Amino acid sequence: MKILITGKNGQLGKSIHKIVNTNNFSSDEFIFVGREELDLSNKNNINSYFEINKFDVIVNCAAYTAVDKAEDEKDLANQINHLALKQLAIIVNKHQAKLIHISTDYVFDGESNKPYLETDAPNPVNFYGKTKLAGEKIIQELMPTDAIIIRVSSLYSEYDKNFVKTILRLEKEQNELSVVDDQISSPTYASDLACTILEIIDNKDYQAKDRLTEIYHYSNKGEVSWYEFAKEIFKLKGIHHPVKAIKTKQYPTAAQRPKNTTMNKDKITNEFNVKIHDWKSSLITCISLW
Ligand SMILES: NC(=O)c1ccc[n+]([C@@H]2O[C@H](COP(=O)([O-])OP(=O)(O)OC[C@H]3O[C@@H](n4cnc5c(N)ncnc54)[C@H](OP(=O)(O)O)[C@@H]3O)[C@@H](O)[C@H]2O)c1
Repeated sequence: MKILITGKNGQLGKSIHKIVNTNNFSSDEFIFVGREELDLSNKNNINSYFEINKFDVIVNCAAYTAVDKAEDEKDLANQINHLALKQLAIIVNKHQAKLIHISTDYVFDGESNKPYLETDAPNPVNFYGKTKLAGEKIIQELMPTDAIIIRVSSLYSEYDKNFVKTILRLEKEQNELSVVDDQISSPTYASDLACTILEIIDNKDYQAKDRLTEIYHYSNKGEVSWYEFAKEIFKLKGIHHPVKAIKTKQYPTAAQRPKNTTMNKDKITNEFNVKIHDWKSSLITCISLW
């Protein structure tokens, strides 16, 4: 199989690249592209790229992920997270290929008191969430078969900007950190998600032609507030630094955040026999790498 991974310079793209390179994962051919080769903000560039390049599977790890900035850059966020998916879905259909797309827990409003199921009604509270939901919908509409949408939450890794890296940077800049304790989710270690995506591609059931398009929820096991997550990061690094729990309203941001976006992962574990690691053990693995 010839497999395209978009977003090669992002956290997930780099995590997939590392596993493919270091583990001799399979005999499949992987092509990694970034904005330089395939710019999802440029309609002509998308079409011309796929006129000369054909794949069996496209894994879309590229996205507009700046949640607060999206409130100002609405057209750009909508183009990358929604309209580009319309083009990609049309191209994937034409090439009789398959699409794996990554979405977000931010399609939910966070008001539920139990883990979200794939069948629960989305209701995004910020523009980023709206564009990601629109991306999901256009894929489902244009691709009734051969697409998979994986919603993940609070992605972190040893790469780039993410909560773990930010907390460790702020420890050097601020005498006391204030972190919100009323937003709850399940962190997702990008390397675990990368392994899961590669396992799905290798799965015989997934490879069947005309497999119905489905949404799946994925993250690590357990739930935690950003405050508890920050405390655990310091504990694992052996750092003694004051951390104060604050409420969301004491930390205003351009984009509203959902309160509790824990997701139920039974569907992905049952259908693909995926093993989900506890969030603390994956955090230990990630932190041990730097
Ligand atoms: N990060 C999270 O907490 C989180 C939570 C839930 C869901 N997700 C979803 O998980 C997926 C992976 O997230 P991530 O954290 O790996 O994202 P990331 O690190 O921000 O990487 C996204 C990548 O998309 C690329 N990109 C942006 N605009 C592009 C364009 N116009 N054309 C082509 N590529 C473009 C970026 O390229 P440059 O490097 O050139 O900027 C970047 O490499 C995304 O779908 C995201 O929505 C993320």
